Amino acid sequence: MPKRDFLAIPDFSADELLTLLDLAGQMKAGVWRERPLTGKTLAMIFAKSSTRTRVSFEVGTLQLGGHPLFLSSRDIQLGRGEPIRDTARVLSRMVDGIMIRTFAHADVEELAQFATVPVINGLTDLLHPCQILADMLTIVEAFGTLEGKTVAWIGDGNNMCHSWLNAAGVLGFELRVACPAGYRPDQAIWDANAGRTTLVMTDEPGQAAEGAHVVTTDVWASMGQEEEAAVRARAFEGYLVDDALMRRADPKAIFLHCLPAHRGEEVTESVFEGPQSRVWDEAENRLHVQKALMATLMG
Ligand code: CP
Ligand code: NVA
Repeated sequence: MPKRDFLAIPDFSADELLTLLDLAGQMKAGVWRERPLTGKTLAMIFAKSSTRTRVSFEVGTLQLGGHPLFLSSRDIQLGRGEPIRDTARVLSRMVDGIMIRTFAHADVEELAQFATVPVINGLTDLLHPCQILADMLTIVEAFGTLEGKTVAWIGDGNNMCHSWLNAAGVLGFELRVACPAGYRPDQAIWDANAGRTTLVMTDEPGQAAEGAHVVTTDVWASMGQEEEAAVRARAFEGYLVDDALMRRADPKAIFLHCLPAHRGEEVTESVFEGPQSRVWDEAENRLHVQKALMATLMG
């Protein structure tokens, strides 16, 4: 069987994604306790900081019987300029899967092209598909289904927004994106999904949130954009997720944030810590979906 990668949500069909979420749910409930990674190693390359991604993959690998290998790109030869395609072939001779978090999405695609073992995208500047798996599981837990749900994305048209667009396209839920001009998502990703589901673009957060089942946001300056923080803070004025915005949403709406969050910037303390917030379930679900993903690709 040819190896499979997970670089973007559309790498899996809707059925495959739902099966994966179901498996993650069984793992979380403790009814699925197999150890399909016994004797196997996952290499985890990090060119950016991480708490959730690192810990969920590391702990998840151990719980599945395997061995995780943390490789900071500052410490391996990749950081000194060894080509990604060489790194891919060397690691493929020694490990059973590679997870990578880095800047350029093209680097992850090149890694996957040259690796003979499954490659998992642990975040690039373009996409964050592993986080969206956790977000989907959190929505299913809250509402029982993704069907007929409306998600409001408030803020930057960034890697998270792009993966939400891909998820909406594959799974068919409605996605409303509120972004200021100049910070809208990638047009090609938008166009690829627009024909598959209802996508709405607005610069009015309230319009996006109206009746939505899920209100979600992310930091205004992502990793690598720290120097733009002041300019971005001005551009995103009015995009704060606060109680007034949550009141526009469905009364049972939940609030999601991939974390880390900047309280008082993109979300108020009261929403973040409030009764509609599911951010800790969402963070925990990283572990369960990452395990389901590894069991599927490497098991
Ligand atoms: N949400 C997320 O990917 O968190 P980390 O950056 O801590 O991995
Ligand atoms: N958009 C954020 C997500 C962090 C998990 C970033 O790329 O920094």
